[in-house]
Amino acid sequence: MTRSRSALRRPGRALALALGGLSLAFLSGCQKAANVFHLSGPQSTIVTEGPVAKAQYDVFMVTVWVTTFIFIVVGAVLAYAQIKFRAKSEADEHAEPPEQSHGNPLIEIGLIVASVALLVVIAIPTLKNIWYTHDVPEAERANAMEVTAVGYQWWFKFEYPGEIVKQPTGGEAPLVTANELVVPVGVPVRVNLRTIDVIHSFWIPKLAGKVDMIPNRANFLWFKADKPGYYYGQCAEYCGESHAIMRFRVIALSPSDYVKWLDNQKQPARTATAATVRRDAEQPRVQFASLEGTGPGSTLAASPSFDADPLGAWRQKQQVEPNENAALIADGRRLFKEKTCISCHTVRGHEGIGITGPDLTKVGSRSTIAAGVLENSSQRMHQWIKDPNYFKPGNKMYHGGYVDAQTKKPLFTLNDAEIDALVAYLHSLK
Ligand code: CUA
Repeated sequence: MTRSRSALRRPGRALALALGGLSLAFLSGCQKAANVFHLSGPQSTIVTEGPVAKAQYDVFMVTVWVTTFIFIVVGAVLAYAQIKFRAKSEADEHAEPPEQSHGNPLIEIGLIVASVALLVVIAIPTLKNIWYTHDVPEAERANAMEVTAVGYQWWFKFEYPGEIVKQPTGGEAPLVTANELVVPVGVPVRVNLRTIDVIHSFWIPKLAGKVDMIPNRANFLWFKADKPGYYYGQCAEYCGESHAIMRFRVIALSPSDYVKWLDNQKQPARTATAATVRRDAEQPRVQFASLEGTGPGSTLAASPSFDADPLGAWRQKQQVEPNENAALIADGRRLFKEKTCISCHTVRGHEGIGITGPDLTKVGSRSTIAAGVLENSSQRMHQWIKDPNYFKPGNKMYHGGYVDAQTKKPLFTLNDAEIDALVAYLHSLK
């Protein structure tokens, strides 16, 4: 009897220790706790970087505090009853149960009132923040900018309705980019959420989210970045076989850097003229432009320099590549046309006029390719072009572009030398 009782007590003690530790972590402030429990990664919703995500976090914390309070009160009453009324002797264990009572109006009404009060405590900040996060506040609307994000299987198109550029097919239309949304800091950004195919969901954990992109429904959200940074985004609604790798980035720049970026984006595609021939300066890198945790040595690991300073890596990509080979680039441009890439991708000012794939006018200036999945290095771009279906199963560049979607027969072939030329061309597009 005594042996079994002490065995029962041990897990109880472990539980008490764990709960004590957890409440200590909460008491010492959640941002710190986030580091202890590894909740501060690039897609953390606990360490926020903008007012909308902060408002969402605040509602979460109100709920955490209220439910923690309920947990402690109910747990304390339960523990008190268990200790106070436990069987202290052999006689207690065989005693008759005490007289039973049914119903106590005071306790019942008291519990109802307490529950309602706690729900009101949660409801007030919830309603306030639903209002706040729904749309750009009236006072800030004059200062806001608008972007349209369109979900595709499996990448994001970003349109800047306020920035009009000449189109290759004639006429004018908003500036378009893909997978990397660049915004100025301190400016509210209202994002119109659209989809071309199935339901996707738009989520930038540190800034705002998440809101679904639903066919035939004009959803939107807004966010504001507090400081310059490189933020990880992710599709958050299952949308097909490559849903998990449908990613994007938000790059927040100072207003002057943003204007500089915008001016360059509005230019037609750059035509490289430098005639150097050396190409051996580029170190091949096999990198997964991903989150921490995959570790060095893994073929899917992120490059340490990229992980350490992704915004710096992005800025580096705005510069012309070292040791450009103009002849190779011209060859790549020819192949881009011959291999029918132009029918799916726009390159404003060059031959590309397609709109089913991402706009590539400035693809060389992006830090990632394949919807935020691969670092935009020569090695990875080469591997991506060589076998897109390996990195993004089911993608439409492969099914329908490389092979006939029905018969699976190849529509063209690419050898390594041709791919190198294509990579050189795409990386010259800054
Ligand atoms: Cu798009 Cu999941």
